[in-house]
Amino acid sequence: MKKILVIGAAGQIGTDLTIELRKRFGNQNVIASDLKQPSAEILSSGTFIELNVLDKASMEQAIKQHQITEIYHLAAILSGNAEKAPKRSWDINMEGLFNVLDLAKELNLSKVFWPSSIAVFGPSTPQTNTPQKTVMEPNTVYGISKLAGERWCEYYFQKFGVDVRSLRYPGLISYSADAGGGTTDYAVEIFHEALKNDTYECFLKADTKLPMMYMEDAINATIDLMEADVQKVKERSSYNLAGISFDPQMISDEIKKHLPLFTITYKPDFRQAIADSWPASIDDTVAQKDWGWSAQYDMSEMCKIMLTEIGKKTK
Ligand code: NAD
Ligand code: SER
Repeated sequence: MKKILVIGAAGQIGTDLTIELRKRFGNQNVIASDLKQPSAEILSSGTFIELNVLDKASMEQAIKQHQITEIYHLAAILSGNAEKAPKRSWDINMEGLFNVLDLAKELNLSKVFWPSSIAVFGPSTPQTNTPQKTVMEPNTVYGISKLAGERWCEYYFQKFGVDVRSLRYPGLISYSADAGGGTTDYAVEIFHEALKNDTYECFLKADTKLPMMYMEDAINATIDLMEADVQKVKERSSYNLAGISFDPQMISDEIKKHLPLFTITYKPDFRQAIADSWPASIDDTVAQKDWGWSAQYDMSEMCKIMLTEIGKKTK
């Protein structure tokens, strides 16, 4: 029987992923964990345990106690925050992953999901329709940790048979939880500020185009990949995943269609250099071919949902 542990369940992705996993596999079969308290919906719909991914012994105890068969390991320090604390971020991103991979190997878990990111690419990568296999020379703490993580995931699969599966998520856009300190966070913040104050000061330049995705697409991709037949999962580093690509000006124009008074100003900060090192768009045809991936949401649909759902909360 499937019994899932989500590590990082209180974060932007964990908040939505935990609920969707509980819907699909049963509330009692999905254990949420994090350092901090998750949403009220996660707390009321199933078990939550406080767990530090750096504490291997406690994780081992939790896996045994709850008879866990699969782990979705989401805990990490994202790109913007990682630049402020490089060594601590490296330790959390890498030691956390090693603990999960080692426990999967030692306790013979059936599967592990670990997300990589568009941050594995760097300034020397082709920026448009970035292919699955290309030059990868990231120049951020976060990107270096994700690229190293990809290599270790493939290593654990090849050497020890750990069935670890991974996606290079683009910037994810959602309304259930705040974004967690990344470079693409502006594309979440903008909706909250538009509805609250009719204006937003963006920390990236107007024409900084980045790959993005609405959360429901990301959650579906994650569960589809984890549920795919093992022979279909051919990339054991991480799969490119594409949704929508846009820049701050384009999303601002779309928001103005719904909120005509909305204005945007630009004050680029240190995250501009991070964004400039990442692709503008991603080629995910390998994921489409291997396990049938296709994104459902475009920018206009995503904007409508974000404004409606955040609007309900800000009333
Ligand atoms: P987030 O920052 O919102 O959530 C991460 C969660 O991990 C937080 O709730 C935090 O409390 C928890 N955490 C941090 N340190 C921990 C520790 N030592 N032990 C246990 N929990 C700890 O991040 P997110 O946006 O939900 O991202 C989840 C994963 O997806 C990360 O690996 C991230 O790199 C990856 N990713 C996210 C995006 C995105 O746009 N959100 C894009 C690409 C990749
Ligand atoms: N959204 C993430 C970040 O900006 C990308 O991995 O850090």
